[in-house]
Amino acid sequence: MTMELAGLETPTPCADDDFLCEVLHGLSLPQKSLPSRFFYDAVGSGLFEQITELPEYYPTRTEIGLLRSCATDLRRSIGASAVVVEFGSGSSTKTRKVLSTAASLAAYVPVDISAQFLQQQAAELRCEYPKLAVLPVAADFTRPFELPDAVRIMPRVGFFPGSTIGNFEPHEAAAFLRHAGRILGRGATFIVGVDLIKDTQVLQKAYCDSQGVTAKFNLNLLARINRELGGDFDLDGFSHKAFYNSVRQRIEMHLVSKRRQKVRVAGRAIEFRTGETIHTENSYKYTLESFGALARGSGWTPAAVWTDADANFSIHALVNESA
Ligand code: TRP
Repeated sequence: MTMELAGLETPTPCADDDFLCEVLHGLSLPQKSLPSRFFYDAVGSGLFEQITELPEYYPTRTEIGLLRSCATDLRRSIGASAVVVEFGSGSSTKTRKVLSTAASLAAYVPVDISAQFLQQQAAELRCEYPKLAVLPVAADFTRPFELPDAVRIMPRVGFFPGSTIGNFEPHEAAAFLRHAGRILGRGATFIVGVDLIKDTQVLQKAYCDSQGVTAKFNLNLLARINRELGGDFDLDGFSHKAFYNSVRQRIEMHLVSKRRQKVRVAGRAIEFRTGETIHTENSYKYTLESFGALARGSGWTPAAVWTDADANFSIHALVNESA
């Protein structure tokens, strides 16, 4: 999955996607941090695919199971001759469940920042679903974009799976929901996958697996700085840490400096104390109620919600009744 949260992240003095500027800025803050959107270079995207298949990483599997089991309900929510607009479509794996479910769907608009990947995926989907109009939009889904003219009169359904909404700060999640409401318009439905608060151990293991894939994914950010910005991070000098912050109801991912060290990036020296961390990502968890409240406060009315038997994950159908 390609994720691009640039439009809603805390603004920095950096121009769009200036990796070096973002790195130097983030590493100069009192709590060092790096924007999580830089995880997804080719290596990172491959590692992310592996994460979704880990035994400990329950969200992907659970969400796909849910999409299958609530197919009939979902079909009813989506209605006939609708267009599905996916925010950050990546490889559209989960969408295939929805596309297969809603046989009467008129069009699919995958929105993704990676134009080349998008065209490739669109071509595959056209072969698989010859009756469906596949109309990709290459855009940062957190910023305003236009829907293709061909879908203007169709009933609209937004799709935002993967609990990607959890990677936003709550105020950013609210801003994103409002933004999606503006793009989809009044009367639209929004299908959003949201990971739920649960046993801390289960949560933590999902982000700190026994094979160390998530650790590799996190550390790849430093490897990428070395590759692309001529950094000299010693990858053995940092370790992956993920824990559940129960006050803020989020998993936090950090890279911990194992010792006192100095790193150079583009000629700039960055000092680390022993145990000092770089905060790389949050994954907020919600209850059915707390997500419903967030949606309501952002112009959406919760219409239906589905969860698995263990209440690990949820899929919300929201309706846009605002202007
Ligand atoms: N949004 C998902 C989650 O927070 C997927 C994800 C994003 C993820 N970044 C991650 C999973 C880093 C593991 C590690 O779970």
